[in-house]
Amino acid sequence: MIEIKNVTESYVDGIKVIDNMNLTIENGTIFGFIGPNGAGKTTTIEMITGVLNIDKGDILIDGKSIIQNPIEAKRNFGFVPDTPDVFEKLAGIEYLNFIGDVYEVPSKTRLEKVTKLAKEFNIYDQLRNRIQSYSHGMKQKLQIISVLLHDPKNWILDEPMTGLDPKASYTLKKLMKEHSKKGNTVFFSTHVLEVAEKICDKIAVIDKGKIIFVGTCEELKEKAKNNSSLEESFLKIIGD
Ligand SMILES: Nc1ncnc2c1ncn2[C@@H]1O[C@H](COP(=O)(O)OP(=O)(O)OP(=O)(O)O)[C@@H](O)[C@H]1O
Ligand SMILES: [Mg+2]
Repeated sequence: MIEIKNVTESYVDGIKVIDNMNLTIENGTIFGFIGPNGAGKTTTIEMITGVLNIDKGDILIDGKSIIQNPIEAKRNFGFVPDTPDVFEKLAGIEYLNFIGDVYEVPSKTRLEKVTKLAKEFNIYDQLRNRIQSYSHGMKQKLQIISVLLHDPKNWILDEPMTGLDPKASYTLKKLMKEHSKKGNTVFFSTHVLEVAEKICDKIAVIDKGKIIFVGTCEELKEKAKNNSSLEESFLKIIGD
């Protein structure tokens, strides 16, 4: 469970990019975060994950504050950022072992998980190669595998489908569904509204740093008085 409480954030003094945000992502939910470019999705995700300091308010991950208990809060989530910047000089398997060490994943579990996930994502045969030789999508797959190693209850992903091939995207969606069915949380940003419509139990729409809608895709359509398409409803609600 992720609770965002009265959070405000500015990069430049006085200009709020996130304005008094309140949002709860309940257990057992796939929660989509949608909004135009520059709306504040990545900023929000970076505050949840402790990449950015929070100016005002607090964020709790399974009850642990990212401000007061950052280490404990960080144990409770896995984070896939929007750019797969990983240590280029390491081999894929070295990177996965490094992350496994950080999260103290026992070697047997680690081996089982790496083998299963790398095969599912089709990069098993490349794990001994250096990351610098990987394509964008391969780096992304490696990063996804690395955050799943310690089996975090909360998955937080910033535009995870971008750059993935159709099979990998399908695999990721399947894993997300399985994860939420076990009572866990998946929070991800996306511009692909078809994906949001297909897999999200709930969505939040953010525009200019403010949450302007929280609910199901059906409820968004009802609000926009548009029965057919999520895309048109989304455009209507953000005022285009
Ligand atoms: N490092 C930074 N310094 C100053 N302003 C920033 C910085 N990063 C983001 N911003 C500003 O914060 C606002 C929100 O940006 P953010 O990256 O959170 O948007 P986003 O919703 O993730 O957009 P996108 O869909 O393009 O990824 C934008 O106005 C952006 O210009
Ligand atoms: Mg972004």
